[in-house]
Amino acid sequence: MSNKMTTKQADNLNHWKLRYDENNIAWCHLDMLDSRANLLSVAVIEELNSLLEHFEKQLPQAVILLSDKNSGFIFGADISEFTPLETQQQALDFLHRGHALMNRIEILACPTVSMVHGNCFGGGTELSLACNYIVASDDASTKIGLPEIKLGIHPGYGGTVRSIEHCGPLAAMNMMLTGRAVSSRAAKKIGLIDECVPLRQLKRAALAFALRAPARKPPRLLTRLASHALFRPLLASQMRKQVGRKARPQHYPAPYKLIDLWQHYAGNRTRMLEQEALSVASLTTTQAARNLVKVFFLQTKLKDQGKKTDYKPAHVHVIGGGIMGGDIASWCAIQGFSVSVQDQSPERLAKTMQRAQASFKKKFKRNRRAVRDATDRLIPDHRGDGITRADIVIEAIFEDVAVKRELYQSIEPRMKTDAILATNTSSIKLEDLSDCLQKPGRLVGLHFFNPVALMPLVEIIRGPQTDEQVVARSLAFGKNIGKLPLPVKSSPGFLVNRILMPYILEAVTMVSEGIPAEIVDKAATDFGMPMGPIELADTVGLDICKSVALILSTALGMALPDNLDTMTKANLLGKKNGEGFYKYRNGKAVKNKNVHSDNIQQVQDRLILRLLNEAVACLREGIVEDSELIDAGVIFGTGFAPFTGGPLNYIKQHNKENLQATMATLENRFGEKFKLDAGWELV
Ligand code: NAI
Repeated sequence: MSNKMTTKQADNLNHWKLRYDENNIAWCHLDMLDSRANLLSVAVIEELNSLLEHFEKQLPQAVILLSDKNSGFIFGADISEFTPLETQQQALDFLHRGHALMNRIEILACPTVSMVHGNCFGGGTELSLACNYIVASDDASTKIGLPEIKLGIHPGYGGTVRSIEHCGPLAAMNMMLTGRAVSSRAAKKIGLIDECVPLRQLKRAALAFALRAPARKPPRLLTRLASHALFRPLLASQMRKQVGRKARPQHYPAPYKLIDLWQHYAGNRTRMLEQEALSVASLTTTQAARNLVKVFFLQTKLKDQGKKTDYKPAHVHVIGGGIMGGDIASWCAIQGFSVSVQDQSPERLAKTMQRAQASFKKKFKRNRRAVRDATDRLIPDHRGDGITRADIVIEAIFEDVAVKRELYQSIEPRMKTDAILATNTSSIKLEDLSDCLQKPGRLVGLHFFNPVALMPLVEIIRGPQTDEQVVARSLAFGKNIGKLPLPVKSSPGFLVNRILMPYILEAVTMVSEGIPAEIVDKAATDFGMPMGPIELADTVGLDICKSVALILSTALGMALPDNLDTMTKANLLGKKNGEGFYKYRNGKAVKNKNVHSDNIQQVQDRLILRLLNEAVACLREGIVEDSELIDAGVIFGTGFAPFTGGPLNYIKQHNKENLQATMATLENRFGEKFKLDAGWELV
């Protein structure tokens, strides 16, 4: 096929290449200039428009859209282009440009095929949906989705209408409301795409659709019926209820606007398209959307920290196969690394391996080959033979300075000369560990969060003696295992625990004052936290909370509430042993629904202001490089309300004087702990 291809009309095109084959099929190859990935930017849209203009004059047999990038198909719109949009009208004009392109493709008088391999998100999916057919490779890298909701908007280039037309409202709304991407097999199953084939057959499949132009099957009657005006109000109210469990309308308006759009306009295609653009235009300029876009860029900023060096250890050795070490080892194996894991006895390791199996199955589901491959990559190694060939040794044993030092002294002589020694300690300063080493520069902190598989952040702790190259390599390693690496200075609690702890301690103190745990937790979730601080403390384990709190209370003078001590002594450790502040039934906290408070605002102020004040202190002390990294660390390390853009962004966007005045009132009533940190003037 390719040897008979002719390239035409290549002039004036920076991003697209146009080739015709012997069937007069126009193959439009997207290879965005100066970009690793394809984006549906204004320039890309304009060039595609000019191609369409050309096709309208000289109609080819068919048009096939494909990507020339290894990174995937199209990652979506260029988000940086809609951040400068200030007014709704500007946003609307921007969206109309996309709508016009999609409509033009849709009515082109020849078959159009989108040929997808690799990631296809947002605008890329909307573009594909405007084509007559979508064929995709069944490769594991192919993922198709409409993730706009994560940016505080919803699809705005006709994607709401067309995805529903393809797969019915239930599957399409579920995809748009969660923002979750699906594999090409799943996409075929729900009717989002027309065919899913092995990569080697992809071109042939695209060609077959282009030449045969088969009639598209409409969704099944039952699926279509769900869009009937009679059922929409009921289904919409169920959707609102489901969304309400995770996101409140005042914090995240986008999912609610999407449901309204579908409920009110699904019966009228033209109106729904018009209203879609209006709805997205009104969302784009909300503070929630602007902050969520900020969070998206914070994520990129963290990934960039790991791109300064490329470092992929050939072998990883983990010492300590407990909660953290076991999960770190299985996570690294899932990410494709060869890993050995060591513990004190084969019996303990057997448990570690059992848990790893469960993680592999959870991750890869029915893909037995992937489960088998990950299992092969993880070696139980109770004698520690892996130490001699490891490029990085990760220590996750008991949180005890003397025990850790003893271990380091015994393993260092066996380590490769340039191997990194990384500790997962959650509270010990690196300088208290490194001076027992012959090469103190090789010690770095790799502080993962619990549960490892779900928490995106890893703090990379730089001690005063840590080599710069070791830090750079550790950041790259963090990125290469699919985490967001955050460089942090070695200091008590590092960044995340330090900021979280005053908030948790304030919560525990309030419970000891007689405020019901349910009220304290509600005050936090009302603010937008994913989980209240009391339930969080129970989940982490009150013994662990206490040990971190003890270190911080010594180092930073934070008072330790008595109930934390009495509860741990009474073996009330939280979720793991069935009772902490709450009792647990089937892993769920049993909460009293009949509790009330007439001053929940003060509860919320006490919680949030202690957290904000500590974030400010970290900025002043330079625990991380800048205020954006503080916001990133707190959002990705604790789940802090993402729609606020992080604690320091929250201060910037709220009246600072009012916040400080509330602090002064609280200081009068509750003392020193609410004293304004000197760093407030830096925010
Ligand atoms: P854990 O008690 O579940 O596991 C520790 C494991 O290390 C045990 O299986 C033990 O047998 C093994 N071990 C102890 N000494 C050893 C030695 N000399 N050689 C080989 N294995 C040895 O503890 P967990 O919770 O996994 O914590 C481990 C480290 O991770 C600690 O430094 C802790 O501060 C840190 N951490 C814990 C978090 C948590 O939420 N549990 C979160 C972040 C860090």
